[in-house]
Amino acid sequence: MTTKATNIVWHHSTVTRQARAHQRGHRSAILWFTGLSGAGKSTLANAVNSALFEQGLACYVLDGDNVRHGLCKDLGFSDADREENIRRIGEVAKLFLDAGVVVLTAFVSPFRADRDRARALVEPGDFIEIHCAADLDVCEQRDTKGLYAKARAGEIKDFTGISSPYEAPELPELRIETGRQSLDDCVAQVLSYLEAQGVVPASEA
Ligand code: ADX
Repeated sequence: MTTKATNIVWHHSTVTRQARAHQRGHRSAILWFTGLSGAGKSTLANAVNSALFEQGLACYVLDGDNVRHGLCKDLGFSDADREENIRRIGEVAKLFLDAGVVVLTAFVSPFRADRDRARALVEPGDFIEIHCAADLDVCEQRDTKGLYAKARAGEIKDFTGISSPYEAPELPELRIETGRQSLDDCVAQVLSYLEAQGVVPASEA
């Protein structure tokens, strides 16, 4: 067990988030994609990221499968480990927000309380929850990584949607039918929301 640090004082940066937004010409935001494995979170987040990048915005994707190779490689899929995974991502996303970046997070993030804690770290309007709402049967049929078959066979325990719950957002900023719509339509839906919120400059959306 490590000892928690004491005598730590918050150091305020002289370059503010507002100054960064002014310099870059756009404000930052957290786009929090949530949904079942295989719902298309990473695909959609990366496609939106490409569109924002092409428009000259500072943007970055934090992806569950990638972050679990490094920052969160000590964590598994128990409820407690998922909670800690999402806590860390929430804190990292907050740093990106402060750095003036539009940060897109693509994590199953199955528990409402964990997502709400991440939301509570930042100001209202900074956290945009995007539910990738593909049905379980669609995700299972796709089974791009072969994980659903393994979960059904009992080879993976605590698998979201099979042996671990997914708590869908009740009032997400956006609900996207990633199981029914084309990727282009899904991207357009996100971009038009970002334009309406003044994240993406209107003329460029
Ligand atoms: S979260 O629940 O903590 O948010 P995260 O998004 O980081 O999960 O990781 C989910 C990815 O890990 C899935 O896309 C899938 O590829 C893989 N995975 C491996 N085991 C599991 C499991 N038991 N439940 C869900 N996803 C799993």
